[in-house]
Amino acid sequence: MTDPVFVDLTAPPAEGVPVDIPAPHPTIRFDGRADYPDDVAERLSADAAGIIARYPRSRSALLPLLHLVQSEDGQITPAGVTFCAEQLYLTTAEVSAVATFYSMYRRSPTGEYLVGVCTNTLCAIMGGDEILAALRDHLGIDAGETSADGRITLEHVECNAACDFAPVVMVNWEFFDNQTPTSSVELVEDLRAGVPLTPARGTGTVCTFRQTARLLAGLPETEDRV
Ligand code: FES
Repeated sequence: MTDPVFVDLTAPPAEGVPVDIPAPHPTIRFDGRADYPDDVAERLSADAAGIIARYPRSRSALLPLLHLVQSEDGQITPAGVTFCAEQLYLTTAEVSAVATFYSMYRRSPTGEYLVGVCTNTLCAIMGGDEILAALRDHLGIDAGETSADGRITLEHVECNAACDFAPVVMVNWEFFDNQTPTSSVELVEDLRAGVPLTPARGTGTVCTFRQTARLLAGLPETEDRV
């Protein structure tokens, strides 16, 4: 029989001595407009009604409704949060909690094309970091920022389960596989020039961020309203 092993858990805090309480999490804030003009609210409400009707419980429509308001503003705004809450009989805190949990919902203005460079393990080994550095240099912006012409928002993304095709770049969540620094710079230049681009998988060409958000809401594509 082996000897018992004791683990030193250090002394418990003395009773009656105040303990350090961590500062509360900063209040979640969304930038952008606070409300919608009547005509926009009316149009969004009509779209929302069709989405909500697909679900047995209205609150189940929150994710597509967040995409709907993101298609309007290019990000989640206070107006979008309030709109979703009112449509679904939720609190704005409940809507905010969901909108900040998923990285597809953005809290800052987004360019026409959201270019995400995977820098997770396999893509990093295969050159993802070099691609991100090349795009930062070429566009003159850091990850999380938007080019001055409003066309490209650059971000680094985590693994997109496309490791077989590393390193991958995503444009509005469409895959562009086996990229290099040179090909990714050509990719963003084609996007800026309005060249229709076909992703590595799927059909059709890449559409704008707002159009993509509308498709993710389950609605037909329309012209961008900027
Ligand atoms: S590590 Fe980039 S897709 Fe998996």
